[in-house]
Amino acid sequence: MLEPFRNEPLTNFSDPKQKQLFEAALCKVEAEGGRVYPIRIGSERIVTARKLESVNPADPAQVVGLVAQADQALANKAVLSAAAAFESWRKTSAPQRARCLYKTAALLRRRKHEFSACMVLEAGKSWSEADADTAEAIDFLEFYGREMERLDQRQPLVRIPGEDNELTYIPLGVGIVIPPWNFPLAIMAGMTTAAVVAGNTVVLKPASATPVIAAKFVELLEEAGLPDGVVSFVPGSGSEVGDTLVDHPLTRFISFTGSREVGLRINERAAITAPGQKWIKRVVAEMGGKDAIIVDSDADLELAAEAIAASAFGFAGQKCSACSRAIVVGPAYNDVIRRVAERTEAIVTGNPKRADVYMGPVIDKKAFDKINEYIEIGKTEGRLVAGSSAGDPSLGYFIEPTIFADVAPDARIAQEEIFGPVLAFHRAATFEEALEIANGTDYGLTGSVISNNRAHLEAARESFHVGNLYFNRKCTGAFVGVHPFGGFNMSGTDSKAGGRDYLLLFTQPKVVSERL
Ligand code: SER
Repeated sequence: MLEPFRNEPLTNFSDPKQKQLFEAALCKVEAEGGRVYPIRIGSERIVTARKLESVNPADPAQVVGLVAQADQALANKAVLSAAAAFESWRKTSAPQRARCLYKTAALLRRRKHEFSACMVLEAGKSWSEADADTAEAIDFLEFYGREMERLDQRQPLVRIPGEDNELTYIPLGVGIVIPPWNFPLAIMAGMTTAAVVAGNTVVLKPASATPVIAAKFVELLEEAGLPDGVVSFVPGSGSEVGDTLVDHPLTRFISFTGSREVGLRINERAAITAPGQKWIKRVVAEMGGKDAIIVDSDADLELAAEAIAASAFGFAGQKCSACSRAIVVGPAYNDVIRRVAERTEAIVTGNPKRADVYMGPVIDKKAFDKINEYIEIGKTEGRLVAGSSAGDPSLGYFIEPTIFADVAPDARIAQEEIFGPVLAFHRAATFEEALEIANGTDYGLTGSVISNNRAHLEAARESFHVGNLYFNRKCTGAFVGVHPFGGFNMSGTDSKAGGRDYLLLFTQPKVVSERL
């Protein structure tokens, strides 16, 4: 009998034993820097001449692994292979498919620190951010396995005499999974295994910045007994491999998490019917955010400062849920800025291999340049309060946590997603104005309200238009099953990962009615 779902506990790194184990895991992953990760299509393991060097963003001279790179021909082959594998996988029972996820979760739990250490080195995550990422991956496996078993039960229908009616959730077919680099294990694993447990086969194109952790996860799926061909691993460039996979007539759905620009491009391409295509491709796209925390005039200011700093600078602000706008109502404005600035100055930055580092580098040179450009724009749009000096990128892509005050709500740094450690402060005269500013972007992913005013909280409940709204806490760190996650408007299709509605996106209900 399966235990009820519960979230995986996080590691306590103040325990010297855990610290020692984590350091050993870092050494193990560092020693594997020369490993080559092949493309996986069906039972084939293909090592191409062209390989991508996945590097450590805190030390770009350090290679974390070498990853084979697919081209258009291999991408096409992967879709055909996934289509062939679908014929048997779709007939595998739901409990058997779920069992593959539970076994993968068990293996991952045993090698937790190794996977987290890989993310410290490949994505620049701090120890606790990496540990939370691995815990979330385990949660997705355990949660989606149980969800599929729930959907496999007899579904409630209105019963009529003389007929036996049955509704079943059947899979769609071949899915293309294009995950992000910022939760390179959790979101990648969640997107992949949700589709797989529902009976689909998947071609996984990992994020180019974090293919090694994805390759390690696919190895784990194999170890857990997932049949060959159910998940193909096809790393490569978005324009070559990504487009080919999306455009293929046998592609049934695309599950994407990443930037608005790429998400919209995928949506447009998927809308074109390829010759021989027999369905409307389904697109699940989770995109950006321009998330705001409102601090009400009667708020607990310490709580507000803590929530803002944690939401803005955790993992260097590289979360779609990150707070990039703080909106303060009334006279506490300067006080809140001072408190957030004090916390910001105390943030320990550096190479996250060190246990005490809270904020590491940003993901790559492209992100480093883009964020620095926004910081320059910010200097013309607001008053610089903290941060801003950029280091030498050849020594790691480090950017200081940066705060701008007195920013107009329509400024570029208040409207465009920066995806880095940059926070803008806005002043609002009333709570209503604060809500208007908060809702005044194209996005609608997360938001927080720090307030002791019940009427204001209820007003926000009704009209703060975001998929995940938090009261008196930070706006990052959704837990699987507890806070199903996804946003409105240009934040995406509000797919609510980690919730009861998620698997429905990868299934189609079929009704069979038999006259008795
Ligand atoms: N689920 C993450 C969070 O809540 C973002 O993807 O922070």
